[in-house]
Amino acid sequence: MATVDSPLPRHDDLKADFPGLHQEIRPGVRLTYLDNAATTLKPWSVIRAVQAYDSEYPANVHRGIHALSERATEAYEAARETVARFVGAAEVEEIIWTRGTTDAINLVAQSWGRTFLREGDEIVLTDLEHHSNLIPWQMLAKEKGLILRFAEITDDGRLEDEAVERQLSDRTRIVAITAMSNVLGTVTPLDEVIAMAHDRGAIVVVDGAQGVAHHAIDVGKLGIDFLAFSGHKMCGPTGVGVLYGRRELLEAMPPAWGGGSMVTRVTREGAEWNDLPYKFEPGTPPIAQAIGMGAAVEYLSQFDAKALIAHERQLMDHAHRLMEDIPGVRILGPSPDHKGGILSMDIESVHPHDLAQLLDREGVAIRAGQHCAMPLHQRYGLMASARASAYFYNTTEDFDRLAEAIRHAIELFRDRRSRRSG
Ligand code: ALA
Repeated sequence: MATVDSPLPRHDDLKADFPGLHQEIRPGVRLTYLDNAATTLKPWSVIRAVQAYDSEYPANVHRGIHALSERATEAYEAARETVARFVGAAEVEEIIWTRGTTDAINLVAQSWGRTFLREGDEIVLTDLEHHSNLIPWQMLAKEKGLILRFAEITDDGRLEDEAVERQLSDRTRIVAITAMSNVLGTVTPLDEVIAMAHDRGAIVVVDGAQGVAHHAIDVGKLGIDFLAFSGHKMCGPTGVGVLYGRRELLEAMPPAWGGGSMVTRVTREGAEWNDLPYKFEPGTPPIAQAIGMGAAVEYLSQFDAKALIAHERQLMDHAHRLMEDIPGVRILGPSPDHKGGILSMDIESVHPHDLAQLLDREGVAIRAGQHCAMPLHQRYGLMASARASAYFYNTTEDFDRLAEAIRHAIELFRDRRSRRSG
């Protein structure tokens, strides 16, 4: 749909694709959806793929020798292949279905980390991390006596590669880093970080929850060791995600959880593990969701990745200009050339939760709070922030509406204050 000549996907076509995009959330109040970093809207092709599984071939995978089960298995494995191509995995077996990004990172910590890390080993994280790429490492560190080190960000929320380099040592075994901050939108210098980590013999775990959705991430080209991402941040269903791992690493790892399907032979005393990727997929997997995630990736693949990035950049240029004109609004994080489509703000004398509520009255959906990144908010001395996050179906008009609603909220609070003091 979008080409490099026409950087914006045609909005009218997108409207037809996304039933959630154009609706009234209350009579006369049109939705402006700017909470995409929390979860994105779903196109018809994804909704129909999930519905087709549920209505036409709702069978289990890899279990039945009957037509429905074969069809389900085929669709489920085809989705795995689609996802493998999308992220540039060398082999389809390097794609493990998980419940989401959090589950995928925990899998690395509980399997690779528990097996290969020793007391005194170091894990390097950054100040940008979501709790999903922090707590699993804290838990492991406590259990095994590991040391966590943090690469600091600049005041404007950028991560310089030297900041990571300063934390690396001969004891560094893992660098766990987000590709794109879910709060500031900061895009991290993965190329440089991966090269530095590999020089030290460390592996790199990338939290791609936002990065895979908003930027083309090619694990082969970048040399990523593990990449975790979620379906629902990229037009797919909730409850499904992926762990990409380099075959050599996955082969060496024991399963983190036991159950059916992940074994080839079981006795009373023990079991032999199945081949990749099934070794890490015990129990009935999220079949409909994986098929839906495959459909989401197919949907996204029709767009030129550069065009999508350019569109978000244009939205952020516009949003920054608008917010800079509103007295009392402080934008957190870097300028649009260092980030994806996320705009977090601290607004003088309006609490983010009050702001989100007032915006909701005008149909503008944003997120308020700490966005599962408390240490990052502590870095800015904040208890919470207000976050508007875009995806390719958002328009500059959406941000015009956001700016107008913010002005209304600020005026309302100013009037209330002056009534109280008057
Ligand atoms: N991780 C999601 C967010 O940033 C939930 O909102």
